[in-house]
Amino acid sequence: MTTKSRPVRSNQTGIHEDLFKILQRHREKPYLKPISRHTLAAFETARRRLATIDRPLILDSGCGTGESSLFLSSMYPEAFVLGLDKSLVRLQKNPLFGTPHDRNVLLLRADLFDFWRLAAREGWRFEKHYIFYPNPWPKKRHLKRRIHGHPAFFDMLRLSPYLELRSNWRIYLEEFAAAVAFVTGRSFPVEPFVPERPISAFEKKYWMSGHELFRLQIRL
Ligand SMILES: C[S@@+](CC[C@H](N)C(=O)[O-])C[C@H]1O[C@@H](n2cnc3c(N)ncnc32)[C@H](O)[C@@H]1O
Repeated sequence: MTTKSRPVRSNQTGIHEDLFKILQRHREKPYLKPISRHTLAAFETARRRLATIDRPLILDSGCGTGESSLFLSSMYPEAFVLGLDKSLVRLQKNPLFGTPHDRNVLLLRADLFDFWRLAAREGWRFEKHYIFYPNPWPKKRHLKRRIHGHPAFFDMLRLSPYLELRSNWRIYLEEFAAAVAFVTGRSFPVEPFVPERPISAFEKKYWMSGHELFRLQIRL
């Protein structure tokens, strides 16, 4: 993935004006959409695999090709990394997807929102949770497609005491941080950062395209 990419363009200049209204609605109204069959199956696969493992767990949500999951598995050899993505095309680029191996990582195809709901319902806890370069959905009218604009945001926040997001669109992370503050009453800063070595395919692409990169670290 070496083609130059353009910085995110948006008709938003700051946090979306409807953010808190939507969060309030999601807090009050139960989200009842049925869980997709393929995510139920992925959750069962994860449950079976994780039952055999007595290590700290790390979640890499939206792992794409799983490059970041492998990076994390080397960075934390004592842990076990679960990488999730909905895109079979991306996951299949990784030789560890769908084949037996003995690395401390499992890559699964799943919808994140559904998987988070299932994991929260069953009280799963991850030592760390990473979300690298989530789809920005930069148009104003796409707020509800962003992670913090989705009802499952509340479940996701229950999964780990440490959450890290990276993005090349600062407003996405500022909005996410504002949503976390709305739910938890705690504020966390968005910081520009320079990667020592790109952690994922998108980080590499954005970095090589000269984009400024941002990070949000949340310790709950
Ligand atoms: C911009 S890419 C970043 C991929 C990877 N984290 C990286 O940094 O290279 C966003 C990824 O999130 C995945 N994704 C978006 N929405 C998802 C959802 N609801 N469930 C699972 N994966 C999703 C996409 O398939 C895509 O691989």
